[in-house]
Amino acid sequence: MLTTQTECAARNLLERMADARRESDALFDMVRPSALYDRPIPERHRIIFYVGHLEAFDWNLLHTRFSNVKSFDPRLDQLFAFGIDPVDGGLPSDRASDWPSVESVREYVGKIRADLDKALERHDRLTGYEAADGFSLGLLLNVAVEHRLMHVETLSYMLHQLPFASKVRRPAVPLLNTAAVSHRMITIPAGVATLGLPRAGGSFGWDNEYEAYTVSVPAFEIDKYKVTNRQYLEFMNAGGYETRSIWSDEDWAWKAAAGVQHPSFWTKANGEWVLRGMFDEVPLPREWPVYVSHAEARAYARWAGKALPTEEEWHRAAYGTSKGTERDYPWGNNAPDATFGNFDLRGWDPMPVNAFPKGASAFGVEDMLGNGWEWTVSHFAPFPRFEPFPFYPGYSANFVDGKHFVMKGGSARTAKCMLRRTFRNWFQAHYPYIYSGFRCVSR
Ligand code: AVJ
Ligand code: FE
Repeated sequence: MLTTQTECAARNLLERMADARRESDALFDMVRPSALYDRPIPERHRIIFYVGHLEAFDWNLLHTRFSNVKSFDPRLDQLFAFGIDPVDGGLPSDRASDWPSVESVREYVGKIRADLDKALERHDRLTGYEAADGFSLGLLLNVAVEHRLMHVETLSYMLHQLPFASKVRRPAVPLLNTAAVSHRMITIPAGVATLGLPRAGGSFGWDNEYEAYTVSVPAFEIDKYKVTNRQYLEFMNAGGYETRSIWSDEDWAWKAAAGVQHPSFWTKANGEWVLRGMFDEVPLPREWPVYVSHAEARAYARWAGKALPTEEEWHRAAYGTSKGTERDYPWGNNAPDATFGNFDLRGWDPMPVNAFPKGASAFGVEDMLGNGWEWTVSHFAPFPRFEPFPFYPGYSANFVDGKHFVMKGGSARTAKCMLRRTFRNWFQAHYPYIYSGFRCVSR
């Protein structure tokens, strides 16, 4: 049999699906059974929802593309179809007893995997297969794989909030030894930034990554490193949370209502700040990036007399060069590996911001991929000639509301495939649980 490139790509997608399932299974296995119906983040569903959701999503997306594949539990397909992201402070009020038993959810998951895998195996040329409505199965499989891997990250945020006793400890990644961090700003000369993917290019991206466009970005300066816990502590000790003038009206109101006085990952023990990691509390690691909400990031930036970067500035600092060419990754065109940054699900918590000098951009800006997403000042909004995916019209469009901001980069819990240049993440300004920090610019 001839092995065409198309067949290799198809095989590769099925293997990637199997890998992604192993990652999500491993996360659910980390939760002690007694905690599966807990809701570690008040704004989100209980953990059990996500066990069903990952499969219901794949099923709802894929099963109608095959003849002879029938839905066997439409009630569960519906129940597990969509997550929630309330923007008005409203909280879900369902009870644990409203949800199906873990045995029936696991049975649903197992049956879906078996049925889908059987149907997929019958299609030996997945990327070439066109369903009646014209989407290639390869595109839909990419969507399924990345959707699952995104949930591996958002589930990590969620399990982060579980009491330590409710999770099974996983091995830690050895901490890299680093020198003291010497902060400075780097000048990025005026030049171009290309954002987005060209539709004609044929590589996978979500709907919000199209169409590609190029802009000129005026010169600016950007922090060489992400803002660290040490720097953020200086801001707190200088009264940052009490200084009215550096907070917008909205952010000040949120801070007061929610009683926010420090980053959500920090707590005080015996008068000293400690950081709540995935499996342990540790004395505040001074050289790790601080994880904060967008509101806290922009207050810090104002206090420092700086600003958050735009999405375009972030691109220019990460991928631009002084020659006017652009790179695939900050460090060049080599695929991501463990020497370039803290990403791809190896570890759980951050590393010092100067741990990956090899990952520096052409301009010398470090740690841009991995080790924590970075907030931008840019609202999540479509690129020119945006078209929602017809098979998932709300994926991006539902979040274009002036309340969600673009995050770039990635965290320790971001899978490699989503480190591509055009991937865009987004969250609300006041959502405090995510692995997101920031760096500042001056213009
Ligand atoms: C792109 C990470 C913001 O988790 O809300 C998962 C991804 N959308 N299921 C989210 C997503 C639907 C989304 N983010
Ligand atoms: Fe989802």
